[in-house]
Amino acid sequence: MVSNNSIFSIKLGWIALLCTNLMIIFGTICLMAGINNGGGEFREYIWPVMALFAVALILTLINFFMTVARRKTKEIYISNWYIVSSIIFTIIVALTAYLPFWQDGVSETIVQGYFMHSGVGMWFTLYTLGLLYYFIPQQLNKPIYAYSLGILAFWTQILFYTIIGTHHFIFAPIPWWLQTVGIVGSAGMIIPVVAAVLNYLMTFRGQWHKVTNTYTVPFFFVAVIYYFIVSIQGTAEAFKYTNLLWHFTDFTVAHAHLGFYGIITFGIWGGIYTIVPRLTGKEPIQMLVGAHFWLAFIGLLLYTIPLSVGATLRGLMWMDGKPFIDSVVLMFDWWLWRAIGGSLMFLSHLIFMYNFYQMTCKKSIELEEA
Ligand code: HEM
Ligand code: HEM
Repeated sequence: MVSNNSIFSIKLGWIALLCTNLMIIFGTICLMAGINNGGGEFREYIWPVMALFAVALILTLINFFMTVARRKTKEIYISNWYIVSSIIFTIIVALTAYLPFWQDGVSETIVQGYFMHSGVGMWFTLYTLGLLYYFIPQQLNKPIYAYSLGILAFWTQILFYTIIGTHHFIFAPIPWWLQTVGIVGSAGMIIPVVAAVLNYLMTFRGQWHKVTNTYTVPFFFVAVIYYFIVSIQGTAEAFKYTNLLWHFTDFTVAHAHLGFYGIITFGIWGGIYTIVPRLTGKEPIQMLVGAHFWLAFIGLLLYTIPLSVGATLRGLMWMDGKPFIDSVVLMFDWWLWRAIGGSLMFLSHLIFMYNFYQMTCKKSIELEEA
């Protein structure tokens, strides 16, 4: 945490990590055994499994709060607002998803929409934006461009991102006014997105050479660019006509990967390549980090661009009332590109595994100043 202080309790951190991993192990076993929470997308784990996650979240929140409370700086740095509030929102989101008394009929659909997008926006995105506010200035060795833009982006993100859940269910049998709130919130998201992206990119000013001559900064740069692209794409997808066109197509799948893969995964990879060599004193082979980056980057483009184009053509075909099977035939080539892109992404993960091994277990190039 950026408080000129060490984390409050390493032990609490380990317990939280253990609980999270136990949740994933038990959750996966349950899913494979057919024990699940019914049709709730992304909340398939049954509640006793999720209780482990609740423990992890509460311990993490205590750990983060205490660290910030004992900080040696006057201000609370932006990345701390994002990371701490991400944990707070995840607790709210998980409770909303699992408390039983509003889980029937149409209200379950509304809860599902709130859960899905707040999971994406208030957990993963908020957390990763916090990491970017930390890593970008740290790696570029200069302060963030503007504190005030950070404040604007943070509060408008909270204002708009928490009300857009119903954009997952445009034309569903839920009140029109709620759907309109979702659409208006989705358009409002342009404010926090532009403010945050501007802040990050202006911080790069004068340091562009680091995008090409370091192996960590390109990952953060890609995450920032995709934050912009995926959010604008999301806003475009939320309107009535466009949602009618894209909702049931693979356009959403492309959007999901541009976001999760392009922002979250790239941001976390950058963070791992920044931190792990500092902790272990071992660096990965730079050429292999490059191979990881390019395979993942090109793979993602090949996965998502053809999928989006094919999905748009397919949606238009459906609107024209053409036979369904024709749209399946149409998708063939576009799905082939998705398979090629996905294979490149998979290959990049194998290289990342090897790089991680280099940074941790292998006796490799020692850092000059460990
Ligand atoms: C301004 C920001 C964003 C807006 C307005 C937005 C909008 C949307 C809309 C309208 C849909 C529903 C599409 C449909 O089912 O018809 C959607 C789905 C989705 N979005 Fe976003 N999005 C945004 C940012 C993001 C980000 C940053 C991520 C990932 C980190 C993301 C991940 C997803 C995922 C995973 C789905 C699919 C959910 C499902 O399986 O149904 N979105 N988004
Ligand atoms: C090698 C890398 C990956 C490949 C090849 C891949 C492939 C796929 C495929 C084939 C689907 C099913 C799409 C469908 O319903 O037709 C899917 C769904 C999904 N994947 Fe991935 N994926 C990869 C990595 C990731 C990562 C790293 C994340 C998250 C960080 C992710 C998040 C998702 C999400 C949220 C969905 C559901 C999307 C929706 O329902 O709209 N994927 N993925």
